[in-house]
Amino acid sequence: MQSSIGKAFQLFCFLVILIVNHVCWIQAQGNSDVNPTVSRSADPFLLSTSLPVETAFTFPSALPVIPSGGGNFGKGRIDLGGLEVIQVSISTSTSQRVWRTYEGGPNSMGLTIFQPINLPPSFFTLGFYAQPNNRLLFGWVLAARDVSGNSLRPPVGYVEVINTTSMNINQDGAAYFWQPLCPDGYQAVGLYVTTSPLKPSLSQESISCVRSDLTEQSETDTWVWGTNEMTLSSLRPANRGTEATGVHTGTFSCQPLSVPPPPPPLFCLKNTKFDLSSMPSHNQTSVLFQSYSPWIYLHPDEDFLPSSVNWFFSNGALLFQRGNESNPVPVQPDGSNLPQGGSDDGLFWLDYPVDKNAKEWVKRGDLGNTKVYLHIKPMFGGTFTDIVVWIFYPFNGNARLKFLFIKSLSLGDIGEHIGDWEHITLRISNFNGELWRAYFSEHSGGTLVEACDLEFQGGNKPVSYSSLHGHAMFSRPGLVLQGDDGNGIRNDMARSDKFFDAGVAYELVAGPGIEEPPWLNYFRKWGPFVRHDIQKNLDGIAKSLPGLLRKKFRKFINKMPREVLEEDGPTGPKVKRSWTADD
Ligand SMILES: *[C@@H]1O[C@H](CO)[C@@H](O)[C@H](O)[C@H]1NC(C)=O
Ligand SMILES: *[C@@H]1O[C@H](CO)[C@@H](O)[C@H](O)[C@H]1NC(C)=O
Ligand SMILES: *[C@@H]1O[C@H](CO)[C@@H](O)[C@H](O)[C@H]1NC(C)=O
Repeated sequence: MQSSIGKAFQLFCFLVILIVNHVCWIQAQGNSDVNPTVSRSADPFLLSTSLPVETAFTFPSALPVIPSGGGNFGKGRIDLGGLEVIQVSISTSTSQRVWRTYEGGPNSMGLTIFQPINLPPSFFTLGFYAQPNNRLLFGWVLAARDVSGNSLRPPVGYVEVINTTSMNINQDGAAYFWQPLCPDGYQAVGLYVTTSPLKPSLSQESISCVRSDLTEQSETDTWVWGTNEMTLSSLRPANRGTEATGVHTGTFSCQPLSVPPPPPPLFCLKNTKFDLSSMPSHNQTSVLFQSYSPWIYLHPDEDFLPSSVNWFFSNGALLFQRGNESNPVPVQPDGSNLPQGGSDDGLFWLDYPVDKNAKEWVKRGDLGNTKVYLHIKPMFGGTFTDIVVWIFYPFNGNARLKFLFIKSLSLGDIGEHIGDWEHITLRISNFNGELWRAYFSEHSGGTLVEACDLEFQGGNKPVSYSSLHGHAMFSRPGLVLQGDDGNGIRNDMARSDKFFDAGVAYELVAGPGIEEPPWLNYFRKWGPFVRHDIQKNLDGIAKSLPGLLRKKFRKFINKMPREVLEEDGPTGPKVKRSWTADD
């Protein structure tokens, strides 16, 4: 009798939880509209007056005034070795709209193609610019001037890649996509687009071909637009990183899906004079960072705040050595007694102080003693600067799951680790000091966001939201689930009174001409290696669930890739794969 009352009571509680959770879940979903789609009307004429692309993006404040320095940063022109390039920002004064379609592409809002015009004397177009209509107008292409006498050549003709005459899409007439046919020893970088079936003339207006040794292999970057007959993507250098010479040109490629053979490849440029002379000086870097330093918001429920590494060391962090575990050594405030170089061989690791209270204290970090660490990386052959903003958290909290109507299911100690390094990357043009994109690191991956899609606060400073416990970086507040069908690992982001401006306390720790602090060259783990028994944890959770959910839970968990459950361990910034690579 008692047990059946107990059962009934359990069922009652279960239903109450179900309803409460469901309501909360709906609210959470309402708040988590990460990418609100712009509503569109079916009437193409109404629509054509309201496309985001028709308005140019402008930064909330004026761009930073760059102090003069010895180099060529912010001078508008970069010499790649026999080829001088300028960055043409697409606007009504620098370009002309050639063609547009009102459907397909991101948010199914269509695409607009622009031709650069009014170039300075002796500069030539390398290709046109294409942008989805769902974003404010914000983009650029490079134009080039021949300074060697044989770096550029006009094409010998054009070949039609595809046209849209027979495509059943809402468009401004038909478009014809043309690839330049280049003389021997020269390569094409971009496409020409017309709204007439006549081949482009080979006059001044045409696209220039570039001498082969000044070009490199390119690959598709982001998807811009497509139909079932063609797909259009922006291009980027295939080889990217701090040592790579490939230069991003801002052009796009177009791939017919039905008619073989595919068009010959398009190339990016190559900086053959990769001498870093267009990188910002340290003073210029400081001005850039003061201007674009992100605001970082922590979740209101966050217990594990960031700190400076010096705070972590000074508050009792210990260096352990294998085989001598009973004699840990306090880390010097500047990290000068940490073993340098080598590899993560498991010989040394850091841990909290042994004292329980001291441990709890260190684990929670200290917002007032937070500092960010900047790594300055040349990108795209030194035509862009990446300011990588590294943030240290003494502790990474556990992972939580959203599963069916269960809003937040703790995964025990899965995901927990000591010593958590996260980053945001600001990608800045060395032509004009303008922020182009920001990269937000999220567990083992991340998201690249164009400046026009960032949230800004206090001038041109982007806002970043650090997820609850895991500290993954996001450009928007709300809930992001790693999983599918509305189930998955929770990433909760929200504004709170726990936040900081990364520009208040920062230090340049790596990059051309920057002296590296000893802790940066400590390549062992920032926390002890703890093997979480993921399977045991999950079995325990499954057992705690009502019987009818258990099977569903196991099925869901088994489908989830293991790396989602395994946090990117406590390795330092220089050991991460992204250190010398593109993010
Ligand atoms: C447009 O493309 C079709 C193939 O899709 C081709 O048959 C036609 O000749 C092209 N039109 C022109 C004017 O190039
Ligand atoms: C950098 O800035 C500081 C202070 O603003 C100034 O004293 C110094 O001369 C500058 N250095 C260079 C190389 O311009
Ligand atoms: C163990 O660590 C202590 C403290 O650093 C040191 O004095 C001692 O020599 C170490 N012993 C061995 C065997 O490495």
